[in-house]
Amino acid sequence: PAPVDATIQAGRMAALLPSLPLETRCPPLPLRRYNGFWLPEAVLTELPAIHARLRPRPSDIFLASFPKSGTTWLKALAFATVHRARHPPSGADHPLRRMNPHECVRFMEMDPELRRDASSLLEEFEELDSPRVLGTHLPYCLLPDSIAGEAAGSRIMYVCRNPKDAFVSGLFFVKKVSSAYGAGAGAGAQSLSLEEAFELFCEGRLFAGPQWKHVLQYWEASMRRPKQVLFLEYERMLRDPKATVKKLAEFMGCGFSKEEEEGGVVDEIVKLCSLKELKNMEVNKSGGNQAGVRNEAYFRKGSSGDWRNHLTPEMAARLDKIVEDALQGSGFAF
Ligand code: A3P
Repeated sequence: PAPVDATIQAGRMAALLPSLPLETRCPPLPLRRYNGFWLPEAVLTELPAIHARLRPRPSDIFLASFPKSGTTWLKALAFATVHRARHPPSGADHPLRRMNPHECVRFMEMDPELRRDASSLLEEFEELDSPRVLGTHLPYCLLPDSIAGEAAGSRIMYVCRNPKDAFVSGLFFVKKVSSAYGAGAGAGAQSLSLEEAFELFCEGRLFAGPQWKHVLQYWEASMRRPKQVLFLEYERMLRDPKATVKKLAEFMGCGFSKEEEEGGVVDEIVKLCSLKELKNMEVNKSGGNQAGVRNEAYFRKGSSGDWRNHLTPEMAARLDKIVEDALQGSGFAF
């Protein structure tokens, strides 16, 4: 990827923003293209503050993903694993039984309720006990140098998903949540056809798109800095969640002891964070945030290959070709 300035200044961003290519067809938020990625204006506006003020600690764990790729699951798994001493996964009062995973692990670049700016989010992060776990949908090239630079000590776990499934998952999600973000945008989402949304996805014109470029940058980073960046695949996680939890724990520097494994702690974490379990928790059935996004929107089928029920073979072949062409010679393939 093209190198970007390590420090993005607020004044420069404010001056630049109106001149960046704009996309308004992708609800619920207007997007601008910056350094090859389409991001909400609200996120780009906050980027300079994040770059200037985020003070990463070596123990920090950042959970990165392209939207609709398993973020919620990864947040639950990482949170439950890293805090298992304080919050035993079998405990009736585990935070994941009373809070949605996105409340347990916040996104660093944006308040899902769109009420607070980055500065107040960052103040909140300063108060968290170590090890902190934070989420991000930012592409690797837009992460602060303090996280992504060669000398950075904190760790990043990235989850990638088949682009066709990420697309289908995103379409269902956008239709469910967009009314929460304003009547105009909501109406746009409701009327957006599958074909129109697919066109936008193929052009990379949606939140954090193009998806394959997002994935590729993290994959390359994981090759370059394997101790700092762990690359996970949603489909593999589904096949073997237990091995995934052990891998996450090792990477985060809190591997399971023999006693823990024999005592079933890994199985308890897998169970606590399973789609079935989380989906049926009262907080995820009836809760939501103040912007009106219902927690249940984050839990749908949780399978691999659902795209077959929604895309025609022609659509699938077209997206496959776009992705293959873009990844050619990179060493990475889905
Ligand atoms: P589907 O819409 O295909 O069902 P994200 O968390 O990045 O928004 O991704 C959402 C996708 O992850 C949705 O996929 C959702 O069902 C799935 N998901 C959410 N929680 C999960 C869990 N605990 N285990 C497996 N998949 C989960």
